[in-house]
Amino acid sequence: MLSVIITTLNFQGNSKLDMPSPDISTQIAGIPLDNCLYNASGAWCTSEQELTDLAQSAAGAYIAKSTTIAYRAGNPKPRYVETDWGTINSMGLANGGFDFYLSFAREKAQQLGKPFFMSVAGLTLENNLDMLRRLAQVDEVAGVELNLSCPNLPGKPQTAYDFQRTEEVLHKVFKFYKRPIGVKLPPYFDIIHFERMAEILNSYPLQFVTCINSIGNGLVIDIDKEAVVIKPKGGFGGIGGDFVKPTSLANVRKFYELLKPEIQVIGCGGVKSGQDAFEHILCGAQAVQIGSCLMKEGASCFDRISSELRALMLEKGYQSLDDFRGKLKVNTDEEKGY
Ligand code: SIN
Repeated sequence: MLSVIITTLNFQGNSKLDMPSPDISTQIAGIPLDNCLYNASGAWCTSEQELTDLAQSAAGAYIAKSTTIAYRAGNPKPRYVETDWGTINSMGLANGGFDFYLSFAREKAQQLGKPFFMSVAGLTLENNLDMLRRLAQVDEVAGVELNLSCPNLPGKPQTAYDFQRTEEVLHKVFKFYKRPIGVKLPPYFDIIHFERMAEILNSYPLQFVTCINSIGNGLVIDIDKEAVVIKPKGGFGGIGGDFVKPTSLANVRKFYELLKPEIQVIGCGGVKSGQDAFEHILCGAQAVQIGSCLMKEGASCFDRISSELRALMLEKGYQSLDDFRGKLKVNTDEEKGY
């Protein structure tokens, strides 16, 4: 009984309850999103049904599976497995093909009324340029994420680990591409690599970078079977989910520090709660993508995570994302303990 009264008194005395619900809207390349959360390309966004689910969810935008010019069946199954701490995938760019996503944009996305992004992952540079030449004329696609980081194509390197090649790609793209565009990067682990990549990106009129794609070429083992859990590439695949959050936060933070302010950073990796999204924004993320959690929980995750993010902001007295975006504190205390 006593605790009930105390709780009631606390609630009555809490002025935060009178505050309006925090605003979690944002913009990417000037495109307004009423919610900073949306899906990571690859997660629940390959078929028309999946894309429609996203459009009808609480997500602020949605992005299609990385497309190649032609339809691809992708790598052999099993190619996606969930574990307690995350996921491993090697889909091999299984996708509906460029014309499929373009038709979706023209025929459906307009009616569904939410910013629709496409992700482009051509098998060659010429393929990428061909798709972008066509997208340069398409108003129904809000923006493009150029995927320079797929780790799952046997025999093909992740472009953005090759700095010279990345420079060549961007040089050719920006000769003609003027619409909103960003790149999806792989995780980097060395400060010199962050600096080198940031220097390249800063020389182009990119609007955003998405950090990070999965951590490439991990291995998950089923101890009972003493075997790998996915079939492609001898079991090697991209790691996502809880396990990658420290790496994704580090990548968001470092690129937020190193990139010119015109290039926004979109956080992706290990987000399954409002707190995770908050941490990405605190590191500097302009918007936050959700992958593994969306696959596990379905499109209703956007509603839950948005509510958790708003509740956390309310508790901390923040009204908008700008109140805390990028304001991560570093530890300057005297060293104590171990
Ligand atoms: C895949 O299709 O294998 C994943 C794509 C990616 O990680 O970029």
